[in-house]
Amino acid sequence: MFNTKIAGIGMYVPENIVTNNDLTEYIETSDAWIQERTGIQERRYAHRTEETTTTMGVKAAEIALQRAGITAQDVDFIIFATLSPDYYFPGCGVLVQRAMKMKEIGALDIRNQCSGFIYALSVADQFIKTGMYKNILLVASEKHSFGLDFSTRGRNISVIFGDGAGAVVLQPTEAPGILSTHLHSDGESAEILAMPNPGTHANHWLKEKLANFVEAPRGEMFMSHEMLENGQNFPIMDGPAVFKKAIVKFPEVIAEALEKNNFKTTDIDLLIPHQANLRIAQFVQQKLQLKDEQVFNNIEKYGNTTAASIPIALCEAWEAGKIKEGDLVCLAAFGSGFTWGSALLKW
Ligand code: UT7
Repeated sequence: MFNTKIAGIGMYVPENIVTNNDLTEYIETSDAWIQERTGIQERRYAHRTEETTTTMGVKAAEIALQRAGITAQDVDFIIFATLSPDYYFPGCGVLVQRAMKMKEIGALDIRNQCSGFIYALSVADQFIKTGMYKNILLVASEKHSFGLDFSTRGRNISVIFGDGAGAVVLQPTEAPGILSTHLHSDGESAEILAMPNPGTHANHWLKEKLANFVEAPRGEMFMSHEMLENGQNFPIMDGPAVFKKAIVKFPEVIAEALEKNNFKTTDIDLLIPHQANLRIAQFVQQKLQLKDEQVFNNIEKYGNTTAASIPIALCEAWEAGKIKEGDLVCLAAFGSGFTWGSALLKW
């Protein structure tokens, strides 16, 4: 059996920088509130009409392929992780296959929000280990700016999220590579952080969970005018509830990965937590008693880019020389679902 290595990594963020002060034009908020509660200073928004989740993903993928020393023709499987796809269906995987003129290879879409990259990495690892594929392209990309509520009503969510993409090429190796991945979920809290519409739920779950939800009339299962007027086309989040669960599950799933491989927290060269909120990352660091140089954060520049946040941070850390060959790197994520997970790898 082979192990899996990251043979190439790339990232792309749109040029358009949106500062906290820029948001105060539409939303009752302040730079001080956003920085104090989240650590975010600015984020990027994709071009409204010229950039999509897929086009950003392709830009990150091109860099990852070049760094792996392969071409799009060499890729034998695509995995795409996003919660903001170009289309309701089909997924972005096939759009990457088309845009990059790849062979008629398999394309799989992963819908695990903030943990999307770790779930995707775990799936890729299984395919590589069994020898089924030799060059898997994993793309994670988000265009949140298309669907945020830029009014005060949505301020707890809209100020957090940003756009961007990351990509990795995964290949077999005889060296250690990915040591283990650990995936979890708890669907009891599905509506605590969700974008229920458009959806086929017909308020089945929402009736008891969200009292103010407008009934979708029969035959209009996706979206009615009344639902739009009520802002039900936007994501919903109980921020404090997510925060409370995240600070328990992050340390737990990191400890699980360390224990599985007989490592201690002091062995970690770099922890890259999903960039949800700097306060969550700081809490995790403190709980695990990690030194500053053992944790990498870049949320201040990009906000929360959901599935893309880990590969973007991983790419920046690697480009900055913070990850060297043989380093023990831990990736961990928690988010909507709830889903959470970790991956431990030797670079
Ligand atoms: O990727 C995973 C996804 N999400 C997360 O991990 C999010 C986890 N949660 C969080 O990061 C935090 O809960 C938030 C940053 C979202 C919110 O911070 P908080 O300290 O939990 O604030 P809160 O929601 O408890 O709201 C406190 C106050 C409220 O006002 P009142 O009721 O005390 O008067 C909110 O209306 O802050 C108000 N508020 C804002 N004020 C200014 C909420 N959002 C904003 C805002 N600007 N953007």
